[in-house]
Amino acid sequence: MADSITITDNRTGTSHEIPIVDGGVDANAFSKLLPGIWFLDPGFGATASTESGITELDGDNGILRYRGYPIEQLAEHSTYLEVAYLLVHGELPTAAQFEAWNYEITHHTFLHEFLRKRFMEGFHYDAHPMGMFVSTVAALSTFYPEAKDIEDPDNRMKQMVRLVAKAPTIAACCYRFSQGLPFVYPDNSLDFPTNFLNMMWKIGGDFTVDPTLARAMDILFMLHADHEQNCGTTAMRVVGSAHADPYSAAAAAAAGLYGPRHGGANEAVVRMLTEIGSFDNVDAFVDAAKRGEARIMGFGHRVYKNYDPRATIIKKAAYDVFEVTGKNPLLDIALKLEEVALSDEYFISRRLYPNVDFYSGLIYQAMGFPLEMFTVLFAIPRMVGWLTHWAEMLEQGQRIARPRQIYTGAGVRDYVPMAGR
Ligand code: CMC
Repeated sequence: MADSITITDNRTGTSHEIPIVDGGVDANAFSKLLPGIWFLDPGFGATASTESGITELDGDNGILRYRGYPIEQLAEHSTYLEVAYLLVHGELPTAAQFEAWNYEITHHTFLHEFLRKRFMEGFHYDAHPMGMFVSTVAALSTFYPEAKDIEDPDNRMKQMVRLVAKAPTIAACCYRFSQGLPFVYPDNSLDFPTNFLNMMWKIGGDFTVDPTLARAMDILFMLHADHEQNCGTTAMRVVGSAHADPYSAAAAAAAGLYGPRHGGANEAVVRMLTEIGSFDNVDAFVDAAKRGEARIMGFGHRVYKNYDPRATIIKKAAYDVFEVTGKNPLLDIALKLEEVALSDEYFISRRLYPNVDFYSGLIYQAMGFPLEMFTVLFAIPRMVGWLTHWAEMLEQGQRIARPRQIYTGAGVRDYVPMAGR
């Protein structure tokens, strides 16, 4: 049996055979054979936008691997900074490589004072932290004009280190500003998650971060670091393909993440659970979702048609956090909602399972993060995923992303002056 497909153009009777390679067929081969015929695929449900060697996602079997390493093993044994190295460099670091990477990241965590004082302090007092995050990442491009030289791999790496290192500082800044709290500078003696939590919560001199909470934060960072060609990452690759600098491209990616159907879902989950309010209202909410009047936020995924493996790990981590913070009262509603939905024919037949966002919001809330910060917490580690894809795309020498359309608008017509309309 040939590993190929054959298509026949019924207008001419000619057939074309195209090989299937790694489970895909080359659309360019089609378009050369069928000029002027476009593949209509809004939302890219049937389109592989690229080849990639970074993250493997098998949605049917609930598998997620970074550079071949199962997410479960990384979440148990690794740290976010090591995972970031793995994503960027393709291999786990030796002790010396990790030391150098850790040093580099740690020594790029500070923000230019003008960025914080002149730019960030210009936001309205009640600005949404994610809106601030998106804009501040974009503004970084004006501080590092050399980033426009995207051809030089060393220069690319320098910007990547800066962005990975500065993401938590920007995030903490957004929070402190939104609360009217003084900014806390990065502390180079702390590890990555501890430093972030210190910048978030420190008030006064004798503050220390609880190591259980720092470890939970690190696990959440690892789980969110990459997820192949999602909306934000696709935005990064598309904007990057125009050879925009990485700060501008990362801002576009972060803007995608901001949407409630993407990274904004964790915030929407807690709002939904709060609205449901009690155990007794769960059935009615599930019925409303089945009638199409509501969506169970944190449920369903374009790719996972099975339990999202990240949700399993997060659910477990939630209990460790609740040991320190006390149980989030919304947990029981979430567990009941999951139980009802998972045994209901509507959700079973559509293969809708909890995704990464279903439980992450409960942890964030128990740790004291306001709802508006949830997507920012997702953006901090996803920064490394965006950048790794950006670098891969440039190394692949990808042409500018420029899809076609099927025009369905009005035919040609003559302009009518306003008085005559
Ligand atoms: N609750 C109830 N019904 C749902 C849900 C849900 N959460 N998700 C999908 N459905 C139904 C949908 O109504 C449709 O039914 P029908 O076939 O009768 O029209 C069917 O399932 C397929 O849904 P879809 O919207 O065509 O699926 P999609 O692949 O375009 O959307 C999704 C995927 C994640 C946007 C969607 O499942 C959703 O809106 N979920 C809630 C938001 C959410 O949790 N997002 C986080 C995703 S994971 C993290 C991330 O990517 O950032």
